[in-house]
Amino acid sequence: MFNNQDSKSRKWHREAVVYQIYPRSFMDASGDGVGDLRGIIEKLDYLNDGTEKSLGVEVVWLSPIYKSPMADFGYDISDYYEIDPLFGTMEDFDELVEEIHKRGMKIIMDFVPNHTSIEHPWFIESRSSKNNPKRDWYVWKDPKPDGSSPNNWLSVFGGSVWELDSKTGQYYLHTFVKNQPDLNWRNQDVKDAMLDVLEFWLHKGVDGFRTDAIYHLIKDDQFRNDPPNPNYVLGKDSPYDALLHVYSQGRPEIFDTTNGFCEILGRHDGKFMVSEAYLDLPEMSKMYKACLHKVHAPFNFNLIYLPWIADVYRKFIDDLEKILDEDEWPNYVLGNHDRHRVATRLGEERIRSMAMILLTLRGMPFIYYGDEIGMQNVHIPPDRVQDPWEKQTSGMGFGRDPERTPMQWSGDEHAGFSETEPWLPVGSDYKKVNVKTGFRDPTSLLSLYRKLIQYRKKSPALLSGIYRSFDAGNKDVLAFVRESTEESIMVVVNFSSDEQIAHIDVENGVIVCNTFLDADEGGSISLKQLNLRPNEGYVVRV
Ligand code: GLC
Repeated sequence: MFNNQDSKSRKWHREAVVYQIYPRSFMDASGDGVGDLRGIIEKLDYLNDGTEKSLGVEVVWLSPIYKSPMADFGYDISDYYEIDPLFGTMEDFDELVEEIHKRGMKIIMDFVPNHTSIEHPWFIESRSSKNNPKRDWYVWKDPKPDGSSPNNWLSVFGGSVWELDSKTGQYYLHTFVKNQPDLNWRNQDVKDAMLDVLEFWLHKGVDGFRTDAIYHLIKDDQFRNDPPNPNYVLGKDSPYDALLHVYSQGRPEIFDTTNGFCEILGRHDGKFMVSEAYLDLPEMSKMYKACLHKVHAPFNFNLIYLPWIADVYRKFIDDLEKILDEDEWPNYVLGNHDRHRVATRLGEERIRSMAMILLTLRGMPFIYYGDEIGMQNVHIPPDRVQDPWEKQTSGMGFGRDPERTPMQWSGDEHAGFSETEPWLPVGSDYKKVNVKTGFRDPTSLLSLYRKLIQYRKKSPALLSGIYRSFDAGNKDVLAFVRESTEESIMVVVNFSSDEQIAHIDVENGVIVCNTFLDADEGGSISLKQLNLRPNEGYVVRV
């Protein structure tokens, strides 16, 4: 744990474990079936009560809680300075920040600069007439001479980005649903207004931001058509992937804009920003280098997509380490509110190894709420669908409701999340897969998460040691070491569903733990000939 005073020496924004809360689904204290801020306050001791009995995470990231008509569940904001009454009040928020800090944790807020809600007063003004001073705050274009939309750009959720507004006869641009008009980031007043938003929340005491959809902020100034994607598979890929988005996103000006955010953060002490962009390594490297103040990292989502092959993992992690300068730190993400649950993607047998890798690599691990107990995607019957993406691409598998279901706290009714039927159905496995049973069982996935997080906090090598991959003499085994001046920690993971033997050329080590939590912890083990059960991993002090 670290407190506010020593945040600099502990470099929290480089090595702390982050826990993402999707507020609608974490804990419902008001009894309306939707999670809220008081619910989160109630459950903070679960996250970190200052002892080794709790999960021990060090940073909480809240998905949006601002005032919103909820067309995209909070990602359509109608007031950046207010808490939506569904989640509580500003007093509740202040109390939450205080309680988080009291526990030595940090809080990161979602920052949504690309678009507002259609109900934001800025947009209401902007659409009122072509001469309105706020007209240029959004992206408006005339139709083509034949009346069709200005270009071929696609919305992430399906269909065109353009929506014709009959009152003024022009189209406005929306990268996401049509209730989320994009702001015009080429307008200085927009930039100033959004930087004010950052300042406001920093002054309220938040420790940083997760910046939404950053790669979409700036569009081509000539609005050129995006070219077709030659690899697009109709019926399998999202309709959005039919084009390569070279003009509608990722424009070079994005780096300067990112640097502008960092400048604001850099004016305060110990703040951090992580930004949402699904990037390959060369693009990620550019995003790291965008900021002069080293207070920013782009999310690394690659583990969500890598095939479960030891060599592929090794190569990716080695390559990532190579692109980073000394003052740039990696992060790793297994899931979030937009991607299917890691337990469903990888299967129950593999999530322990995945957790071990996540929590022993260098940098910041991000945990999506519920992944620590092995929550799965939940089947959503058609009459319970909420997600606009699912509604627009029905049945194609892009819907995000399955990974947004209520946190499974216990085997009680509604999984202990609420006293009433929740906004999304509870997973049918909740009697077995829940926090309460996880705590009772010393060998549960939750116990593994807890052990690794707590161990990591005390281990100089895991916190800030260098990373080096090792040849395990077996193509199915991933092995790497984390090394500081004080200690070396070896991580060895069997990626296969068969028994494997690893041959690592180091002296005997002392077992920290294995993935099944049934090894002789503290006992000695030979790495020269390490027998691994199917999908088993070890953390060993060498
Ligand atoms: C980001 C969010 C996603 C949201 C979208 C539009 O991708 O993670 O949930 O729908 O932006 O704000």
